[in-house]
Amino acid sequence: MIIAVTGTPGAGKTTVSKLLAQKLGYEYVSLRDYAIEKGIGEMKGDELEVEVDELAYNFERDFKGKDVVVDGHLSHFLNTDLVVVLRAHPRLIGERLTERGYSREKIGENVEAELVDVILVEALEENENVIEVDTTGKTPEEVVNEILGLIEKGVEKRVGVVDWSEVYDEVIPYLRL
Ligand SMILES: Nc1ncnc2c1ncn2[C@@H]1O[C@H](COP(=O)(O)OP(=O)(O)OP(=O)(O)O)[C@@H](O)[C@H]1O
Ligand SMILES: [Mg+2]
Repeated sequence: MIIAVTGTPGAGKTTVSKLLAQKLGYEYVSLRDYAIEKGIGEMKGDELEVEVDELAYNFERDFKGKDVVVDGHLSHFLNTDLVVVLRAHPRLIGERLTERGYSREKIGENVEAELVDVILVEALEENENVIEVDTTGKTPEEVVNEILGLIEKGVEKRVGVVDWSEVYDEVIPYLRL
């Protein structure tokens, strides 16, 4: 089975994907590292710009039929069996990206994206099997156990677990208004 773990930058994809892969005994794949290794896309400053179709084509060829957890904010554009969308309070996204030294522009862009469900909407446009998990106030271990519990129960779709419009006021300082 191929499980994609996607979400806004800073939502916890890498942390959760590695632990999930370890618990399932699956291979962990960083989509960014894979793209770089395969020479897909080009660096624009710090950012890797990739052709999503080319990435998906190559990934399918290399991983079809394998047991993989694939980590990346573009992983919902791949052909996978299950897409896990990690959500985090937009304030947490703001705090984590500030700590990483991202620009105000980049922080604002990502806090806004989390606030209005950009990745979730994209994931639902591209996939049937989408599981949304709120990581807020949970440990990575708890998040992984929640995912494993849903998989065990055979849940293939669960969305609508967060509504960040309720916390809009808390993140105004991060927004590019
Ligand atoms: N419940 C949780 N799940 C995942 N990460 C958490 C959780 N609670 C706290 N964290 C912390 O949040 C941070 C998330 O960073 P991580 O690098 O995993 O995010 P990411 O989504 O992979 O970011 P990027 O898109 O930039 O690669 C880590 O410091 C991690 O320890
Ligand atoms: Mg990551």
